[in-house]
Amino acid sequence: MITNTVALLGMAERGGFAIGAFNVYNLEGTLAVVGAAEEAASPAILQIMAESISREGRPLASTCLEAASSASVPIAVHLDHSSSRDEIERWLESGLKSVMADGSHLEFEANMEFTRDIAEMVHYNDGVVEAELGRLTGAEDGLTVPEYEAKLTDPTQAGDFVAHTGADALAVCIGNVHGRYRSEPRLDFERLEAIRDVVSAPLVLHGASGLDEDLVRRSIELGVRKFNVNTEVRAAYIDSLAESFSATESPELVVVMERAVDAMQSLVAAKMRLFGSASD
Ligand code: 13P
Repeated sequence: MITNTVALLGMAERGGFAIGAFNVYNLEGTLAVVGAAEEAASPAILQIMAESISREGRPLASTCLEAASSASVPIAVHLDHSSSRDEIERWLESGLKSVMADGSHLEFEANMEFTRDIAEMVHYNDGVVEAELGRLTGAEDGLTVPEYEAKLTDPTQAGDFVAHTGADALAVCIGNVHGRYRSEPRLDFERLEAIRDVVSAPLVLHGASGLDEDLVRRSIELGVRKFNVNTEVRAAYIDSLAESFSATESPELVVVMERAVDAMQSLVAAKMRLFGSASD
């Protein structure tokens, strides 16, 4: 059944767990996430990169919305990382009611104004907004964020930021990165605790690929209610395709697709169990 992100994050808050938000690019990814959610009896978020949505457009959004509606577990559909008011407005009109207004490339004041403006528009359209304070390192889908620009979320700004913008969820930067961690991931939990002390909105951790059980558990204890996972799902997809095509006989396309869905689905179901959202 389709639901909204805030309802899911509220459910996670009450239950002391987190929801996985998995980036999908096509029908196979969508089937894998919904299949995993049904298999693990877990809520989930189908997440679409702003870049893929501008390329694939409405069919991908419609695919996700339809898959969420016909699922037997609660699923939300969310637009990830958009810095464009026009783009967000277009997607609101076509039914995508959960968006990330990404003003993290802007200075603090400008990010606040940008986020507040988007939040007003989104709330007016019965939607919900995730914002980001700080700047993640790493590269993702053409969204390259040079490391030198990276900065962590400042707990002394976080309370004002959320109060002023009306953001429904806050993505924090505490040492998490998009893409592969080049060395052992290290999260600044003192900073996360200080942020949680001043922000009552649910916290979001991007770059959750590669985080081990201890890091995930501590993040949840300190208020993270949404983990974004992209790189590991993509890798499961690509590895499965590579394996199919390395076979001596070329397989049927339908078989290739089924294997790819299965590979992503088991990865996603394992993440749901790790995040504590599964009840199977
Ligand atoms: P990873 O690619 O590191 O899993 O991060 C995903 C993400 O944060 C999407 O917004």
